[in-house]
Amino acid sequence: MEQYAIKGGSALVGEVEIGGAKNAALGILAASIMTNDTVLIENLPDVRDINVMIQAMQSIGAIVTRVDRHTIKVNGGNINTQIVEGDYIKKIRASYYLVGALLGKYNSAEVKLPGGCNIGTRAIDQHLKGFKALGARDAGIDGGMIVAHAANLKGAHIYLDMVSVGATINLLLASVMAEGMTIIENAAKEPHVVDVANFLNCMGANIKGAGTDVIRVRGVQSLHGTEYAIIPDQIEAGTFMFAAAVTKGDVTVKNVIPKHLESISAKLLELGCEIEESDDAIRVVASKPLEHTHVKTLPYPGFPTDMQPQITVALGLAEGTSIVTESIFENRFKYVDELSRMGANVKVEGSSAIIEGVKGYSGASITAPDLRAGAALVLAALSAEGFSTVDDIKYIERGYEDFEIKLRGLGAMIEKVENDRDIQKFKLRVG
Ligand code: EPZ
Repeated sequence: MEQYAIKGGSALVGEVEIGGAKNAALGILAASIMTNDTVLIENLPDVRDINVMIQAMQSIGAIVTRVDRHTIKVNGGNINTQIVEGDYIKKIRASYYLVGALLGKYNSAEVKLPGGCNIGTRAIDQHLKGFKALGARDAGIDGGMIVAHAANLKGAHIYLDMVSVGATINLLLASVMAEGMTIIENAAKEPHVVDVANFLNCMGANIKGAGTDVIRVRGVQSLHGTEYAIIPDQIEAGTFMFAAAVTKGDVTVKNVIPKHLESISAKLLELGCEIEESDDAIRVVASKPLEHTHVKTLPYPGFPTDMQPQITVALGLAEGTSIVTESIFENRFKYVDELSRMGANVKVEGSSAIIEGVKGYSGASITAPDLRAGAALVLAALSAEGFSTVDDIKYIERGYEDFEIKLRGLGAMIEKVENDRDIQKFKLRVG
């Protein structure tokens, strides 16, 4: 099984190019099958979740052509079924966007229940409530499938009980060709929600207010082809910014939208890092000891839950007591046991982690429990004294393209290995 072998202790220094946003891309891929014309999508990250989504689109008859590693053409004109049932689809969460897209285009969808990272209950009641309001009266879960069928879809006034990225995007997809006006209240404002709305508008949709908490969708007859480049990944960028903090390094993330990274930059400043911003890059310099602080994860523009493990790893090295409160997913501290094995002093009480900073981590054999926690543990290993191995890197590969290659570009001693012999060779090489 593939692992990362890591020798920690060196500061990461240099520039790293950030790829397209995975969570925007997942919504955009689903949206791309809603026209019978061809759509060109650029800046698509080459990561496992995206490739599973493409496989699902192909399984129902969409034609996907790869132009280059990060560019594809999609044609949804030959879709021959509205049932997505391959077992592989359970590997990703965003398969549920195919419900919104197929329902929106064909008034009918049946998609195997999604899987994704095990970070909490992850209910879909708000998605179903919205589909019902739009006219899919039977929307629900039946025999392990999400089902939704409608005679015709009609615009509706939908109030989301909690801010949900998935429900907001799914309801955009389902309502974009519904008759009349749909209003989504308490909508998610994440950059990837805005990117999906922008993409749909480029296809001829009429969506206003994306990025605020009230989105208005006036239904259009049909959507047409377009060419679109996906926004940079806020969380990939944030992870490399924290890599600078954790390794006392100096890292510039390039091809980013600094506005999307404001909450992350603000916390890094509180931790004592220096931040330099330009139009499409941010430099993080960590020349002083890290300072303790508190943080609570919140929907955008708050501090993202997808950056919670990374900031915990950094605060584990900051002198004094810090508190990290997770308010989005109830099961997102599973990595703390692994981090403790590296010497961290973190106690989880309910939805908060109480962190007493330590001087440094020490290398250990650790396992990635999910995507973001896996990436955060890699950062911990990069800062640690000695060797580490990180197991189950398949989770990390769900959302980070060439993670170890990009880290090596910053001077990290990290390699993907398959067995003990590879690990021994790595140890001999890096000394
Ligand atoms: C998206 O998940 C992202 N996934 C997650 O990224 C991210 O952590 C999350 O948004 C929050 O930003 C994708 O975009 C594919 P939610 P999603 O619906 O849409 C509750 C990563 O690491 N809720 O915004 O599933 C839910 O349980 C991943 O890239 C309901 O109760 O998240 C959670 O507590 C992990 N009922 C909260 O709302 C619903 O119907 C927010 O979830 C929907 C959600």
